[in-house]
Amino acid sequence: MSVFITFEGGDGSGKSTQAKLLCEYLESNGYDIFMTHEPGGTSYGELFRHLLLDVKSKDFELDARAQVLGFCSARAQLVSEQIIPRLNKSNTITISDRYADSTIAYQVYGGEILDLKNDVEMILKFATHNVKPNLTVYLDISPEEGKRRIEGRVKKEEEPHAFGEAQQLSFLENNHFDQKKLKFHQAVRDGYASLIESEPDRWWVLDANQPIEIIQNEIQNRMLIWLDQNNISVKTQRTKKQEKASNNSNEQISLPVNSFEEK
Ligand code: TMP
Repeated sequence: MSVFITFEGGDGSGKSTQAKLLCEYLESNGYDIFMTHEPGGTSYGELFRHLLLDVKSKDFELDARAQVLGFCSARAQLVSEQIIPRLNKSNTITISDRYADSTIAYQVYGGEILDLKNDVEMILKFATHNVKPNLTVYLDISPEEGKRRIEGRVKKEEEPHAFGEAQQLSFLENNHFDQKKLKFHQAVRDGYASLIESEPDRWWVLDANQPIEIIQNEIQNRMLIWLDQNNISVKTQRTKKQEKASNNSNEQISLPVNSFEEK
């Protein structure tokens, strides 16, 4: 079995930082991790990211339907090219910084096209091959605090126009969606609240106002238990020493999942 985990949250919630920290933590503990992000994650998707979020494209505002189709086009490529092959492998953890829920929160609620919610859900189903996350970690932040954090970020002089791996996660901190008013961000937050209410078991809701380390620890601790419950184990084998100890003993040796290491 493999699992698909997504991170969601309003702008400035710190979800990208937490997604990255979790990947590093799980990887260093021997799990098989694939990390991606939206919009982007493929060569085609990065072109779309540029088109949709380019700070210099202030001469036009994309219509809400055009936004839905744009994000979904990039997402369809990501799902078929990157996500499905990982989910078809066993014992793999795929983590995406944003996914389909973002489109409901930002375009449907933020873009005030609630009357089109059913249509957008159908488009999402089509674009994603109906691949849904097993778990979504949501970092909840008030629009005021999110905006304050975004405004505090140092804007780079020159935004890159070609997207290498290293640039992908840090790129466009100050995109044009971030400039929208508090009303928009409140609507996005309402969208997330409604998604959480309709599927509470899929979501972990965390208070993004807490210090990074506190949130990081909570996610890590809960994650190890959750992975165990979902039969996801580390990819590395038990060491010869551990095997021998276990064979020689009649007692049940219970090793914490992160204690298996390759030597
Ligand atoms: P990021 O800041 O998490 O990289 O996301 C970039 C922006 O794209 C963010 O403001 C949210 C927006 N977005 C949407 O509006 N709809 C979507 O479906 C996705 C994936 C992102």
